[in-house]
Amino acid sequence: MDKAVIGGTGVYDLDNKNISREVKTEYGTVKVDIITHYGEEIVFLARHGKNHSRAPHNINYRANIKALEKLGIKYIYATAAVGSFNENYEPGDIVVIKDFIDFTKTRAQSFLDSEAESVKHFDMSDPYCKNMRSKFSQRSLAKQLKIKGNAVYVCTEGPRFETAAEIEMFKKLGGDVVGMTGVPEVILAKELGICYASVAIITNWSTGMKDELDIHEFQELISAKKAKITEAFMHVFLEG
Ligand code: HPA
Repeated sequence: MDKAVIGGTGVYDLDNKNISREVKTEYGTVKVDIITHYGEEIVFLARHGKNHSRAPHNINYRANIKALEKLGIKYIYATAAVGSFNENYEPGDIVVIKDFIDFTKTRAQSFLDSEAESVKHFDMSDPYCKNMRSKFSQRSLAKQLKIKGNAVYVCTEGPRFETAAEIEMFKKLGGDVVGMTGVPEVILAKELGICYASVAIITNWSTGMKDELDIHEFQELISAKKAKITEAFMHVFLEG
């Protein structure tokens, strides 16, 4: 068992046939589902909890990633709901994340929190696994799931949405989409040597892009894409 999916907003399971398990870590206890897909066990973790009960700034990212490591996970595909401030990426589109800009403020970003541990620095030139990204794009093509490019993800602290001025700034900095949960998940996976890739579903235009931010169709937009995205994950997991 070395493969996992982390489900973001709107992705709370993979299928119904699963076994729930609790994994204890020094950071807290994490509930995961283990599903069997064509004989292979795959771990599913709902990032916000099954009932979406944890806001982005309250998610126990270290417990989540540590729990996956304890289970032996080496590969993670994650989903993320995002707003877009790139005219080429519209609500309903799927983009693979290729890099991030971090605007979080209060989150524990590292496992290196004791003086006993020697200081290490982690290479961020390729934060999202290149191999998993390109395999996802290939499998999506085969599944008639259209992927639009590689995006730069700006992570904000939340839970509030961004101001229009902030979105203007993010545009100038070279971002494309904005979400609240990608950091520190990607960093923590890197620290533990786990290959991690993230696929974003655009749920809305960011603040100030078009009239008002319309968040009502989040769930519908995500439900429409969820099955195909997770099928593409499974294909990569099973066939490499
Ligand atoms: N901003 C931040 N996080 C989000 C958004 C957004 O516009 N849409 C979905 N998650």
